[in-house]
Amino acid sequence: MVVYVCNTYGQYITKVKSPDKDIILEFNVNQEGQPVYAVLKNKEPIITASRLGFKTEEADFSQNLNIQSTSVNAFQEKWKPVWGQSSEIENSYNSLTVHLANSTGDLIFIEFRVFDDGIGFRYAFPELSNHHTLTIRDELTEFGMSGNHTAWWVPGCWDNDEYVYTQSKISEVDASYFQKGYPYSHATTITNKNAVNTPVTMKTSTGKYISIHEAALIDFPGMSLLVDTMNYTFKSHLAEDEIHPNVKATIQVPFKTPWRTVQIAESAGALITSNLILNLNEPNKLEDVSWIKPTKYMGIWWEMHIGKSAWDLKSGKHGATTGNAKSYIDFCSANSIPALLIEGWNTGWEGCGNANREGIFDFQTPYADFDLNEVVRYGKEKGVEIIGHHETSAAVSTYEKCMDQAYQLYHALGINAVKTGYVGRIPGHRHYDQYMVNHYNKVMVETAGFKIMLDVHEPIKPTGLCRTYPNLMSGEGMRGQEFNAWSDGNKPSHNVTLPFTRNLAGPMDFTPGIFDLKLVKYKNHDTDFSAYDAQDAAAKNVSRVYSTLAHQLGLYVVFYSPLQMVADLPENYKGNPAFQFIKDVGVDWDWTKVLDAEVASHVVIARKEKGKNRWFVGGITGENEHETTVDFGFLPTGKKFKAIIYQDDPLTDYIQTPEKYLIKSAVVTSKTKLGILMKKAGGFAVSIME
Ligand code: NOJ
Ligand code: CA
Repeated sequence: MVVYVCNTYGQYITKVKSPDKDIILEFNVNQEGQPVYAVLKNKEPIITASRLGFKTEEADFSQNLNIQSTSVNAFQEKWKPVWGQSSEIENSYNSLTVHLANSTGDLIFIEFRVFDDGIGFRYAFPELSNHHTLTIRDELTEFGMSGNHTAWWVPGCWDNDEYVYTQSKISEVDASYFQKGYPYSHATTITNKNAVNTPVTMKTSTGKYISIHEAALIDFPGMSLLVDTMNYTFKSHLAEDEIHPNVKATIQVPFKTPWRTVQIAESAGALITSNLILNLNEPNKLEDVSWIKPTKYMGIWWEMHIGKSAWDLKSGKHGATTGNAKSYIDFCSANSIPALLIEGWNTGWEGCGNANREGIFDFQTPYADFDLNEVVRYGKEKGVEIIGHHETSAAVSTYEKCMDQAYQLYHALGINAVKTGYVGRIPGHRHYDQYMVNHYNKVMVETAGFKIMLDVHEPIKPTGLCRTYPNLMSGEGMRGQEFNAWSDGNKPSHNVTLPFTRNLAGPMDFTPGIFDLKLVKYKNHDTDFSAYDAQDAAAKNVSRVYSTLAHQLGLYVVFYSPLQMVADLPENYKGNPAFQFIKDVGVDWDWTKVLDAEVASHVVIARKEKGKNRWFVGGITGENEHETTVDFGFLPTGKKFKAIIYQDDPLTDYIQTPEKYLIKSAVVTSKTKLGILMKKAGGFAVSIME
């Protein structure tokens, strides 16, 4: 499996192949003693010779390195996630570990794993003779691309991922538009105009797909990437705080870095079904997982975002009242939605606009018009779980002081899920620096101890840690539906880019399911929406959702999350026959198949509900309409099934008549092929239930 070849400098090139032998990783140390790697798929270069290494205060691991030894291994397992896109995951790879020593004898190890769907590698710093701490100055890891690929990227921001995706050539990556003060962003922490956050996904001129990200991000800063637009090369750009200039991280040795990952696929759809990031994480550490349950949930939430009500009591239109909570619970109970999120339940929201927000929340005290005990009791009576809410307002010190008691309160009440939030700047810190990575991970571990599931907004990007802590259910870390409520909105191509970018990293709490797409009821719009990409939609108070209703249904299958919101108001679902699909659709899956996909254009996915004979298909399009042919070959053979199809009406226009749709039923078998037209920003959904 490993071949040693003498190169022209008399040094050894070490190669390791994927189990299917299609991917080859080559490792070498060049004339300057710099570690270098390259990756080929079917002989085509994917990563050109690219540097590896670290600069630390205590030791230099960037050059003059010698290979001490190499070792290889083959690994194969199948494991069952607690929840996921499939109920069984194969983890097969060949690995290569290289031990390197610098000129003063300090050691660094690099471990590569080569899978059929890409590669991962990490660095390990063994114990050093004279120091226990390493101060990381820079990570030199590069990912050289073989050409000027098409890339889908968000800016390299160390505080926020809530940006629309841009499609451009690598040579044209330029975030200066976002740096100038993109609305609702942390423009000031976009550190370089030629930098991107990960996952960043690319398509080569030969039709291959590549996505760069990281796995198992523990006790280390998040990695953005600097883009060399001339040489088509990405370089690690670790987030740093404002307190320790030029220090990326301080680590105690022995230490292993997060994995750097490169997913490689022959089709856009194969990226979606790749489990490489999960496979590079440690197995589940929680013994009892009986309390972890994927679920749909409604929320006292959208009504605040569209301005019908507010989070704070002083506003005079407080949303989280006991009465309102009970009427949502009644609606959830009557419509088999198992859970309800309640935001704005606790005192402190009046201080959210303060520059210093430490101390404004105690995460304990309900507002006077909200009886927490009674709401939880009523929910239990009606079979509806309450999802708690902790908006930290990025006052992380306060949250660290209060969180133990706050989780105890929820635990005592029998609340077993919490949504957290980190809106705003963190004094001295960046959301993605080492301190914050440790904070997010601490919350994940502590909530697990209290048997609380977690949904993190304004999170650190997911890196597959949900394999190890399956209470980490979902998170934001992308520009979600909320932007449609109060900004110039998400353009249609955004939703058809997310499955191939952000959603590759892990579950995504996008919050689908808006039926009142023009938001006319609470925004008092005029109804001329002809210029959807007008930058001043928010200023003119004409925010709205730029998709068809059938697209919103399709999102429940297309976007993967074991917590899936039913985001609109009860009054907008009442009496609408399309609501039936949301009631029916599953949230946990035996398998996932991508039937038709192209990044930023369209995606059609079929999933089988875990442990049930129920199949759901969802499709969405972006700026252009797309006719797809659904091949029902995934159904068991020799049997007839009734399919209910929710699709765009031929007259649906996402600007003027987005709410128009058709419901059809059809008898289908594993031999059926059904043509379905998705209109612009449109979509469809199919349910098949035995
Ligand atoms: C931003 C979150 O993304 C959103 O879901 C939440 O409602 C607000 N912050 C308030 O916490
Ligand atoms: Ca957000």
